[in-house]
Parts: sequence; C-alpha cells; structure tokens
Amino acid sequence: MTFKALCLGLLCVLFAFYICVPVPGNIEEPWKVRALDAFIKTIDFVATCFENAGIMKYEEFVSIIFKLDHTDPLSDEHVTVIETAFADIPVRLYTPKRKSEMPRRAVIYIHGGAFCFGSFKQMSFDFLNRWTANKLDAVVVGLDYRLAPQHQFPAQFEDSFAAVKFFLQDEVLTKYGVDPTRICIAGDSFGGTLAAAVTQQVQNNLEIQHKIKLQALLYPSLQLIDSYLPAHRDNEYGLILTRKTGIKLISLYLTASETLSLAVLRNQHMPLESAHLFKFVNWSILLPKKYRKDYVYTEPVLGRCNHSLPAFMDIRASPLLANDSQLRNLPSTYILTCQYDLVRDDGFMYTSRLQNVGVQVTHDHLEDGIHGALSFMTSPLHLHLGLRIKDRSALPVLPSRKGREKHHGKKDYFAPDHGHPRGILRLHPSTR
Ligand SMILES: *[C@@H]1O[C@H](CO)[C@@H](O)[C@H](O)[C@H]1NC(C)=O
Ligand SMILES: *[C@@H]1O[C@H](CO)[C@@H](O)[C@H](O)[C@H]1NC(C)=O
Ligand SMILES: *[C@@H]1O[C@H](CO)[C@@H](O)[C@H](O)[C@H]1NC(C)=O
Repeated sequence: MTFKALCLGLLCVLFAFYICVPVPGNIEEPWKVRALDAFIKTIDFVATCFENAGIMKYEEFVSIIFKLDHTDPLSDEHVTVIETAFADIPVRLYTPKRKSEMPRRAVIYIHGGAFCFGSFKQMSFDFLNRWTANKLDAVVVGLDYRLAPQHQFPAQFEDSFAAVKFFLQDEVLTKYGVDPTRICIAGDSFGGTLAAAVTQQVQNNLEIQHKIKLQALLYPSLQLIDSYLPAHRDNEYGLILTRKTGIKLISLYLTASETLSLAVLRNQHMPLESAHLFKFVNWSILLPKKYRKDYVYTEPVLGRCNHSLPAFMDIRASPLLANDSQLRNLPSTYILTCQYDLVRDDGFMYTSRLQNVGVQVTHDHLEDGIHGALSFMTSPLHLHLGLRIKDRSALPVLPSRKGREKHHGKKDYFAPDHGHPRGILRLHPSTR
C-alpha cells in the first residue's frame, strides 16, 4: 500500500514537473497541450525506468497504454463497420449506409505510431475513419501492419503494400462498390511514411492496373538519413515527440543495435556509399528560407558507423530518397506539416521535390501545429487542433466523375476552399 502510494506520489511529481515546461505562445489550448505532453513524457520516463530495472521492455509498457484505447468494430446509423483481412492483413472497413447510384470513392488510411505502436482500433482513428466514410461518402479501409521491434523493416511496408495491392484488384473494388479512378491513400506521421512509400511502389509497378488518385500525407516522416535538420534542432526537446525518443523508436524499427541509435543521435550513421543520396535531402536548397533560419548547412559525416544498415538507404523507409524519375509518376499530393514537429522539414522537402518534377502538390503548414494531433480527437485527451487537421485534410475530395456531382463546384481536387482558418498557411510554389 505505502509502496503504491509512493509510486503515485512520484508520478504526480513527475507530471507536475513536465507540465511546468512552457509551450510556444501561439499554441491553441496551451494547458491541454501541456497536460498531454506531460502525460506522454511521464509514460516515456516510466517505460524507460521499467526497462532499465529489467521489469519490462520500453515498448511493452507503452503498448499497454495504447491498447487501453482500442475500440470494437461497431456500426452506427450512417456507417457499416466490419473487420476482415486483405491478403491476410487485418483491415477495418467503413461503408456508408445510404444508397449510392454509382461506385464510391475510397480512402485507405494507414495509422501512425512510430512503427512500434498503434492500430486502426485506436479511438481517434476509428473516429476519423468513420467520419471520413460518412462525410465523403467513401469506402474507408483502415489497415494494420506488423509492429516493431518483433517485426522490423520492411514488414510494415510489406503488409501495407500487400493490403493495398489486394484492394486495388478489379473484383475486390467491385465487391465493395468502389470506383477505381477515385482512390486515395492517406496516413499520419509514420503512417504517412508508409502511405508515401506504398504510393511510389503502386504508381511505378506495371503489374498494378488501378492507380492511386491522391495521396494525403499528414505530418509524415520521409527520410532517416539526416537526423540534424533545422526541425530536429528546433524541436530537439519539443512537444509530444522529442528527438531522442524519435531516434529510439526508429532504431527499434530498424535494428537491435544500441550503438546505431547513438550514431543516429550524432548524425553519423550513414556509410560512405550513401553520399549520392544527400542531394535529395539537402535542406539548404529544399527548405523555404524562413524555415532554414540562420542554421548553417554542413556536409554529412559518412563512414563513421560500422553498423550502418541498407535500410537507411531504402526508399521504402525514406521515400524522399526516390529519384526524380520515380517521383514523376506520383499522383496529386496533399501534404500537411506542423511547426512544432520533429519531422516538419520532411514534408517541406517532399513538397519541393514533387513540385520540381511537376507533381501537383497542395501544402498546408500549421504555424501552431504539433506532431500527432490526429491521435487526440476523442475525450479525455481531446485537442481542437486534431479536429482542425481532420477537417482540413480528411477532406481530400477526389476528382468527381465527368458530368456528375456538378453541384459540388468545379474544383475537382480538394474540398471547397473556405479561406484559411486559424493558423494555416497554404504554401503555393510562388510563395516558397
Ligand atoms: C547542398 O547545397 C549546398 C548549397 O546550398 C551545396 O553547397 C552542397 O554541396 C549541397 N550538398 C549536397 C550533399 O547536396
Ligand atoms: C570501424 O571498424 C574499423 C575497422 O574494422 C575500426 O578501425 C574503427 O575503429 C571502427 N569504428 C567504429 C566507430 O567502431
Ligand atoms: C531511378 O531509380 C530507378 C530504380 O532504382 C533506376 O532504375 C533509374 O535508373 C533511376 N533513374 C535515374 C534518372 O537515376
């Protein structure tokens, strides 16, 4: 009893300590963000202590917390929800109940969670996918993939790709009443990595007949070769995801070696033969001036780490490393980035690279955004920012079929543009 009380007391002290850390002045609902951040950092601290004490692994403890948030596949008055499998990959399907004269659009959603955590069962993702199905009159597929560290790269990619490839077959699309010309793939955070990687593979794969019409990447991580971009420096001890935790989780995803994680922290993890890839992530060229600030670009230090892995150079882990001819075939793209986010610059650089090869990109940057906000849309950890991102980005209305849906206006690519709500900067190529 006294031991439990002591532990509880310690947790309160920790929480109080973290909650006192100031947040940037333009952040909406600052106290909620502080509480959320303190909650996450307390879990991180406890998980680390448990691991050091040999009680359980860091990721086992965090997974327990994630699983508390799981939902069942429950239909409601608007949407039928079922769980099934696509090529043995578990999926949760959301189909609108109202009748449709014609085949529907589809949205495939890949959840985030640093490749180690999460599921479509998470309350926020269930809420998001249900909302998307209803709002867009779309068939929504939430898909799960094997998680690290039990399953390391490329298991996460392979599962996502297998499920998407299965879904894109004629007979499957017909079964679910989906229009093959209106398929969107979306993902947040490290789910955005998978969405981007799967899209590259689908578009460049001659065996796959039906292609992706739109990819929506929400605060995605898109490269692992440079771990010291301006965003990494700005957000080293930032909200929700610190640089150290990010690198720890990436290491769990790629390798069991702890020395590698140290090398990534020093940004000295790449081998000599990767020199040719750094032009693809050269932030001194690819980032808009405002976000480069006064940071000075230095050439990468290569060949210092003896455990460097081929995975770091693989476009399925770092979609930003695809060359221009691989990017040219990509569909219309929506990218959302957040200012207070470790992976902010990845989205900026992908936007630049896609625009350079003529891919149509819409980029929204949230000057008051924080990483992971879509995971906090349901009580008790409910942020208005998450709902704003949902409204903004879960609305990638796909091109309507010729002559139909005329009443939605002629804008065919994204939801009607109702001006720019609070804190959103829409970056057009001319203003970058
Ligand atoms: C990055 O860009 C700078 C110019 O801003 C250039 O001097 C440098 O050589 C480039 N480095 C790589 C690896 O592309
Ligand atoms: C890497 O290996 C080489 C030769 O095997 C050795 O000389 C060097 O010290 C090693 N470097 C590190 C960082 O372990
Ligand atoms: C781009 O990468 C693909 C696949 O690795 C390769 O076949 C192709 O030659 C490359 N194109 C250029 C222009 O480097």
